[in-house]
Amino acid sequence: MQFFIDTAIIDEVREINAWGVLSGVTTNPSLVASSGRDFREVIQEIAQLVGGAISAEVTALDAEGMIKEGREVAGWSDHVVVKLPLTPAGLQACKTLSSEGIKTNITLCFSVPQALLAARAGATYISPFAGRVDDIGWDGIELVRQIKEAYVLGDIQTKVLAASIRHPQHVVQAALAGADVATVPYKVFTQMIKHPLTQAGLDAFLKDWAKRAGASPETPSSEAGTNPQQGGVTAQGEPVQGGQKQ
Ligand code: G3P
Repeated sequence: MQFFIDTAIIDEVREINAWGVLSGVTTNPSLVASSGRDFREVIQEIAQLVGGAISAEVTALDAEGMIKEGREVAGWSDHVVVKLPLTPAGLQACKTLSSEGIKTNITLCFSVPQALLAARAGATYISPFAGRVDDIGWDGIELVRQIKEAYVLGDIQTKVLAASIRHPQHVVQAALAGADVATVPYKVFTQMIKHPLTQAGLDAFLKDWAKRAGASPETPSSEAGTNPQQGGVTAQGEPVQGGQKQ
């Protein structure tokens, strides 16, 4: 399962992208509005930063308006995927844009029949909103699983992009449900990476390293064979100038 980040805030994209885990970014009108940035500028900056698949959503409600906007945003970068709502006009626009070779992401999907229609209209991605389905007491991940099963049985190539992800368990469940992609908010990424045993293990390793024979916590690790002239770091990771023994 690939990871996209679900945000239009450039600092969040930059930070998680530095982990080397992103294959794309999803935005929507609410996320772009809350970033306070110009739509075109922020999409182009994100595309430059991440590459991959960058979803930019149209705001027109009629098919003609969506097609016009879709062609425009697709022209902003080769990485742009045009995001369209799951409405009759959205499907019509999807058919036209995908026939022109423009990648599309059909959003606001809440049922398997909707997802089957989007696939037949040529969607590259379908975005079932797991969290919002959970919000009304149904099982959002079960929706993701059923869409994927129906697509596999129908030999449908549209990718299932699990959206409206609210917590790390949603990410696990989406992967186990067979989602091709999960688009994850910044906060959830910062939760996913943490584990108390990882930190405890690292602390113990570094403590033992600092206690190794002949070494004192201040002695730079460079003493252990790297070039003392270049300096090194202490067991606490602080840089040491000139590798001089303290
Ligand atoms: O990008 C669409 C989707 O991920 C929205 O999520 O948290 O507003 O339900 P949420």
